[in-house]
Amino acid sequence: MNITLPSRDKWINPIYHEHIYDNTPTQIYFGGSSSGKSVFLAQRAVIDVLEGGRNYLILRKVQRDCRKSVWNEVNKVLQKLTGGNGRSLLHYVKHNKTEMSITFPNGYQILFGGLDDRERIKSLVPEKGVITDIWLEEATEFDEEDYKQLTKRLRGKSDKPKRITMSFNPIIKQHWIHEKFFGQWDESKNKLNKEDLLILKTTYRDNRFLTKGDISRLLDEDDPYYHDVYVEGNWGVLGDVIFTNWEVRDLSDMQDRLDRSCHGLDFGFSSDPAAVVKQYFDKSSNTLYIFDEIYQTGLTDTQLGRKTKQMIGNDLVICDSAEPKSIKHLKDEGVNAKGVKKGKGSVETRYRWYQGINIFIDVKCVNIKRELQLHQWRKDKYGNSLPKPEDKNAHALDASMYGCEEYWAKKDSWGW
Ligand SMILES: Nc1ncnc2c1ncn2[C@@H]1O[C@H](COP(=O)(O)OP(=O)(O)O)[C@@H](O)[C@H]1O
Ligand SMILES: [Mg+2]
Repeated sequence: MNITLPSRDKWINPIYHEHIYDNTPTQIYFGGSSSGKSVFLAQRAVIDVLEGGRNYLILRKVQRDCRKSVWNEVNKVLQKLTGGNGRSLLHYVKHNKTEMSITFPNGYQILFGGLDDRERIKSLVPEKGVITDIWLEEATEFDEEDYKQLTKRLRGKSDKPKRITMSFNPIIKQHWIHEKFFGQWDESKNKLNKEDLLILKTTYRDNRFLTKGDISRLLDEDDPYYHDVYVEGNWGVLGDVIFTNWEVRDLSDMQDRLDRSCHGLDFGFSSDPAAVVKQYFDKSSNTLYIFDEIYQTGLTDTQLGRKTKQMIGNDLVICDSAEPKSIKHLKDEGVNAKGVKKGKGSVETRYRWYQGINIFIDVKCVNIKRELQLHQWRKDKYGNSLPKPEDKNAHALDASMYGCEEYWAKKDSWGW
């Protein structure tokens, strides 16, 4: 097959041009959202496999997040490119949707996966040659141990230089990625280019493919933290985080202890995700174990019901009670759902209770982990913390707290 790629100006954002064939072993692309990071890295993967005979492993922390993100991104790139006779490249590659792999006409491959699918990831080998590239999309979801294991994976002989690439929004300055790689980073610059490490910071200003509408939607953000991280692409600095009483653990061997469940659900649809958490509370050690989560926008009540049923079976789930109609839909799908009791002071009570327990979160629950990392007290106009949580980063968290109702709800205060 004969493929001539279009001239790079036509389809690749200029700020990334000099990194199309960059062989620096460790590469970091971070910054604000919509700066073209994901699209560029998908484009580069396609170019590398086609022209360079390289094999890619593209990872998200959690396998189920691949299809909607990196898998789609790569396929969009393939769709836009055309081979000799004007047919889209999509027709020339072989997709294996269950294995999540794309095989190019030259035999080289892009493999996709999530670290939760550990056995498969460990045993993955390309059909031809070795894996030369690993790209961690949303790399802040990974922990340092993941990174170490993956770099080991890249050891071994190859005639092509090996690379590991990370892309992410810089959610919090205390992150291990900041600690490990940003020692020589100069905040006033947008690039660090050393022999073994490339860091490139980009923002929406570097993405010439955005429409005016895209930009004004992005700029319509008045929260200073969000503006700084997601518009300007700076490392997030948080004020008064509410919860620090949690740890990430591999809980996969513990599922059989789930006999005293306390699952919770928070509704959401367009801008806010619906969130469901599968969890267990151990009273004797005052410890909450969070095993699994659903966290998704755009789900209808029926879809949410099915997914919930799949995750928790016939167990009870305590739901946000503001939407009785949705609870009824869940019940129609066979979910054992019940509304949480809300009353005066219930927010305060449950936050205080939740602050006083120990929380272990399974490695695959990246969304509740992010919320716990970021959820803050509201501020007054002078920047002082108020005794009220902010209205953000609390979807999975609300679900989790609802689920624990029987432990925090006080009979006396609301008369039940
Ligand atoms: N090279 C490109 N060609 C066409 N559209 C692009 C290109 N790069 C980015 N875009 C558009 O900009 C949007 C944001 O880019 P994306 O790569 O998702 O940003 P980031 O990963 O930095 O948040 C994409 O959804 C796409 O619509
Ligand atoms: Mg992205």
